[in-house]
Amino acid sequence: MPADSGIAEAAAVLRTGGLVAFPTETVYGLGANALDARAAARIFEAKARPSFDPLITHLADPAELAKLVGDVPPAVAALADRFWPGALTLIVDRPAAIPPIVTSGLATMAVRVPDNEAARALIAAAGVPVAAPSANRFGQLSPTRAEHVVRGLGAAVDVVLDGGPTRCGIESTIVDARGARPVVLRLGALPVEELEDAVGGPVTVRPGSSGQPVAPGTLAAHYAPRTPLRLVAGAQPSPGDGVRRGFLAFRERPAAEYAAVEVLSAAGDLTEAAARLFDGLHRLDAAGVDEILVEPVPEVGVGRAVNDRLRRAAATFDPAG
Ligand code: TXA
Ligand code: MG
Repeated sequence: MPADSGIAEAAAVLRTGGLVAFPTETVYGLGANALDARAAARIFEAKARPSFDPLITHLADPAELAKLVGDVPPAVAALADRFWPGALTLIVDRPAAIPPIVTSGLATMAVRVPDNEAARALIAAAGVPVAAPSANRFGQLSPTRAEHVVRGLGAAVDVVLDGGPTRCGIESTIVDARGARPVVLRLGALPVEELEDAVGGPVTVRPGSSGQPVAPGTLAAHYAPRTPLRLVAGAQPSPGDGVRRGFLAFRERPAAEYAAVEVLSAAGDLTEAAARLFDGLHRLDAAGVDEILVEPVPEVGVGRAVNDRLRRAAATFDPAG
């Protein structure tokens, strides 16, 4: 359904316990009424997501945070003030209204206000907070277009709102700002440098080692295409071994022969590269190659989050990495 004309019907589906995939500025989310444990359970089922991986709750408006949660720690409120609506997910205490299944039994809840008109209109029309992970099967590539959702989840979703390609193309940055110094639990579309500017000092980035239960989106192996993927320093001449390879390049088309090539940003712009990352990987995955080679992007700004996704995708195929 088109995102603009489909809002009322999609909101009704949410209110009656259904699943609605919707665009955000980061990636498409798979939404359910966050106040309804049964509806939330359907998300885990549709994604084949392990029950230990908690969901992010989405609100239509920043003012709803205090209404839902009550006391918000000042440092958390300050970041919400500064970056919402936007690609920042904050950790707060789970309010009693949110059933434990949403947070996988954690005493805390992840929450954000997406910077996307359709998303906020949908949540406002539903009149409830909306729990939504990325609208892909667990561990696979995140969806940045409605067709990625349809291809990946199909009939498991009641409605897919099509709002076109997402602007950022990479998930939100998750920050726990309840302590003395904010800790980034997952690198994402909001660069660490902007957070540091906002808090006027360094923030800690938790590397999110494998098995780290605090944010399973940080599992070592995640965000993977079906085709085996390997990180390489750059394009190389074909070894002539008959293996069909695809190449995901940062800015330059490789001189060497590849069966398929995607360039993330000819201008060398990291924001553009992030926006095209998953789309490029979806395309290479559909190109029928035996292996996908990717080169890292500069490790700065949103480039850190792009490299983080690439490393986790590669780790799916080579856990020893
Ligand atoms: O940009 C985004 O964040 C997208 C859009 C749809 O909003 N959503 C998204 O959701 O990326 P998902 O489920 O793919 O990733 C959510 C991450 C998971 O790694 C989860 O473990 C972590 O958030 N998370 C959820 N609740 C948490 C909590 N209470 N403490 C720490 N991490 C939490
Ligand atoms: Mg995800």
